[in-house]
Amino acid sequence: TAPLTIAIDGPAAAGKGTLAKRVAHHYSLPYLDTGLLYRAVGRQILLAGSDPDDPSEAGAFARALDVAHLDDPTLRGHEAGEFASRVAVHGEVREALTEFQRSFAARREGAVLDGRDIGTVICPNARVKIFVTASPEVRARRRTDELLAHGRDDVDYERILAEVKARDERDSGRVVAPLRPADDAHLLDTSELDIDAAFRAACEVVDRVLAEPDRH
Ligand code: C5P
Repeated sequence: TAPLTIAIDGPAAAGKGTLAKRVAHHYSLPYLDTGLLYRAVGRQILLAGSDPDDPSEAGAFARALDVAHLDDPTLRGHEAGEFASRVAVHGEVREALTEFQRSFAARREGAVLDGRDIGTVICPNARVKIFVTASPEVRARRRTDELLAHGRDDVDYERILAEVKARDERDSGRVVAPLRPADDAHLLDTSELDIDAAFRAACEVVDRVLAEPDRH
């Protein structure tokens, strides 16, 4: 049978990461958060004082990326996310990061990858594709609560909502690999689901696919 590759895509703050991590753990699969690749490129450019909007400059940083340092906690921050979505519009950047993602996905034991274009571009043949969504308001609320839980007191829901919408627009509106569900993706709207319910729904999708005769 084909390896169990699970593609989980969706907009910022939809809960993909938490969901993908739990699914990976449940099926004993390695997990790659592909957003970290774009974040790492964005952060390198930020540190170097280079221009994230210049395609060939950003492309050079992407080609030189050392994937050994993806566990740097500063990559998770808001600024790295902003820079990530700016460098992610460039075809040169996306191309430079493709091979690493594809070879991760091609592991014999299978893999879970989360991002924006896993089901459409990186792994169009993934056995399971899940597109996780939630309304911008719900996503902004979750991000706000998360920041408050981390002890931040400068948190403003309206500003976060505006940022979530701006990021959606940039990710969906770009020419190269825009954010959109693959035709054969299972849509999972988590607006009304907590993480446990979302996890159960995702496992149902995976188990259903596993029970089907192999298509590949
Ligand atoms: O998922 P995360 O918020 O970490 O991603 C940061 C940014 O990286 C996204 O807003 C998006 O622009 C970009 N990205 C992408 N393709 C991916 C993963 C992330 O374009 N597969």
